[in-house]
Amino acid sequence: MKKLNIGIIGYGFMGRAHSNAYRKVNNFFDLKYQPVLKAICARNADNAKAFADKWGYESIETDWRKLMERDDIDLIDICTPNNTHAEIAIAAAQAGKMILCEKPLALNAPEAEKMVAAVESAKVPNMVWYNYRRCPAVVLAKQLIDEGKLGRIFHYRAKFLQDWTINPDLPQGGAALWRLDVKAAGSGVTGDLLAHCIDTAMWLNGTIDSVSAMTETFIKERKHQLTGKVEKVGIDDACAFLARFSNGALATFESTRYARGHKALYTFEINGEHASIFWDLHDLHRLQYFDHRDEGRVRGWRSIHVSDGDQPYMKNWWVPGLQIGYEHSFVHQVADFLTGLAERKPARPDFKDGLATDYVTDAVLKSARTGQWEKVKKVK
Ligand SMILES: NC(=O)c1ccc[n+]([C@@H]2O[C@H](COP(=O)([O-])OP(=O)(O)OC[C@H]3O[C@@H](n4cnc5c(N)ncnc54)[C@H](O)[C@@H]3O)[C@@H](O)[C@H]2O)c1
Repeated sequence: MKKLNIGIIGYGFMGRAHSNAYRKVNNFFDLKYQPVLKAICARNADNAKAFADKWGYESIETDWRKLMERDDIDLIDICTPNNTHAEIAIAAAQAGKMILCEKPLALNAPEAEKMVAAVESAKVPNMVWYNYRRCPAVVLAKQLIDEGKLGRIFHYRAKFLQDWTINPDLPQGGAALWRLDVKAAGSGVTGDLLAHCIDTAMWLNGTIDSVSAMTETFIKERKHQLTGKVEKVGIDDACAFLARFSNGALATFESTRYARGHKALYTFEINGEHASIFWDLHDLHRLQYFDHRDEGRVRGWRSIHVSDGDQPYMKNWWVPGLQIGYEHSFVHQVADFLTGLAERKPARPDFKDGLATDYVTDAVLKSARTGQWEKVKKVK
């Protein structure tokens, strides 16, 4: 097995999810590459050292630029807030490193275009962590659609609902709360949550042509953790938009952090001429499937428990009937990236796919400002 030396930046939620994936992937998948946890980079040396000890990283850095200068780092993994992605990724590409970047690819599409140009001119392998493409039940949905089981698709309906920012006393900005600060996040639920829904939707049902959106910021001012001052809130707290897919399907997308009772309710439903599909992140190992061609007396929604060896990824895990969860989507993504490297068939979503999603989110935010339908730019 060839060693692949990882330099990861950021040790928060995604730093942990990715580290877990690198550690497990070779235990469950037969691969030609083995990730080596070479370096963790974070600005606070004590915290970086504690993380390195806990997860088994060989070294620490406190400035990500140092990682780019190191010959013993092959791949840069960007697990930092959205406003840092472009600068780090462009520097990594110029240093000839492979890059795995968290989503959304950038603060906006113009920034993402520069990142795509950088990886293309450096010819470095790249990928964006839209991990929901790697949930076995979502992959099963993709297989059913690609096999034509649904027939022509009429409707796509996606939601991503949370409730963690309802309290008006919650500050914005800084550690843990950077998602409320537009300078760090780029946007609110549109770039954070709907970006996931859009990536999955375009993977399953093709490109989106046009959108019509509304957004709202329910709490207009919040204290900023870093400045200590009450500042205007620049993010969208909620967003709902209509979309037309290039294949003629109509879609609705909705996201909010103000849906009391919901923590991470990502759902999608797809209605085709023969069959429908429904998926729910809270029950991520199941796919709901209705096929009109079933015999009438027993026709109904089936709840498919995606845990059998002939279902996507499942032969690599336990025995039929035993399900897997959220963290495994990241293990699968690493496995697919490493397989793509070995076979010279790059895994996706790559930076161009990330840019395609940024084009949609930019059009959504523009439509919310103009009150008009907006066309979505296509990746060349
Ligand atoms: N794929 C997913 O499902 C998913 C889920 C959550 C977050 N994300 C994305 O992952 C990224 C990180 O989110 P998170 O939830 O892990 O955030 P987090 O706040 O938990 O962690 C961010 C980390 O980045 C570090 N950091 C910030 N600026 C830095 C800098 N200049 N140099 C080095 N380290 C720096 C912080 O100290 C922290 O360790 C975001 O882009 C987010 O949108 C993706």
